[in-house]
Amino acid sequence: MVEAAGAVERTLEAVLPRPVGHHGRVPEAMRYAIFAGGKRLRPFLVLHSARLFGVPDAQSLRAAAAIEALHTYSLVHDDLPAMDDDDLRRGRPTTHRKFDEATAILAGDALLTVAFEILAGRETHPDAEVRCALSLALARAGGSDGMIGGQMMDIVAPTAGYGMDEVVQLQRMKTGALFEFCCEAGALLGQAGPEHQARLRGFARDFGLAFQISDDIIDATGTAESAGKAVGKDQDMGKATLISLHGLEGARAEARRLAHQAAAALDIYGPEADDLRQLPFYLLDRES
Ligand code: IPE
Ligand code: IPE
Ligand code: MG
Ligand code: MG
Ligand code: MG
Repeated sequence: MVEAAGAVERTLEAVLPRPVGHHGRVPEAMRYAIFAGGKRLRPFLVLHSARLFGVPDAQSLRAAAAIEALHTYSLVHDDLPAMDDDDLRRGRPTTHRKFDEATAILAGDALLTVAFEILAGRETHPDAEVRCALSLALARAGGSDGMIGGQMMDIVAPTAGYGMDEVVQLQRMKTGALFEFCCEAGALLGQAGPEHQARLRGFARDFGLAFQISDDIIDATGTAESAGKAVGKDQDMGKATLISLHGLEGARAEARRLAHQAAAALDIYGPEADDLRQLPFYLLDRES
């Protein structure tokens, strides 16, 4: 993970706009939000999925930078007063707290936009069709039937009376869709066939669900100090999670089951898939 994090940070440093000119406050806030730590899980998934198909790191790091930019935009907006109204993110003040709301909205918008600029750049892949396929996949993952739709479901959850099916759908959209993009991006960059794309998406789907359950467990049992963000919010806000439906132990058991199922999806690959296979298990005991 450390290797992927360092490499994607160098790529982000090179591709993100610099804080110059009268509008320099926007890139300043973009960089504040991005270079604040963060586990860089999505870049790890892109890099390691791409390696299964022999993709050069120089290409996959650009796709990794694009998804990290889009993910960071989703966090900046998630923390706004109109959404979760949080003051702490990645261990420091949220972007709207450090700057102001208007700047945080613009920095989020610009992080979303730059993600597509990075994917469209020739250095991402010499074949324009591959760049187009990546852009299409990211638009779908981040859009109203993906992450944004999941955020909408999350916001209306307190009054919607969701059952198990709706909670799983919410989590697949809110969190899983971006993880599916990460793993599919590796197969798209490697021009692997639809069977590989589907297999990698299947891994990411289970991984994403396990990941969101572990995020909800951190919210229910962790501390702001170790998590780097406020905790105890889901219950306060009446958010629908697997914990609210099945209790803590039920949620833990489901995360464990999903981690095994995710790893099994990669059975056909050799030791080169070991880093990906192990990742779902790392989630089970994480504190941040
Ligand atoms: C937090 O994602 C938001 C969710 C989708 C639960 P991460 O836990 O990956 O956040 P960072 O990138 O490490 O800060
Ligand atoms: C947000 O989910 C997921 C996004 C799409 C940003 P949460 O609201 O649970 O994320 P945290 O707990 O604030 O990181
Ligand atoms: Mg939220
Ligand atoms: Mg939140
Ligand atoms: Mg959460």
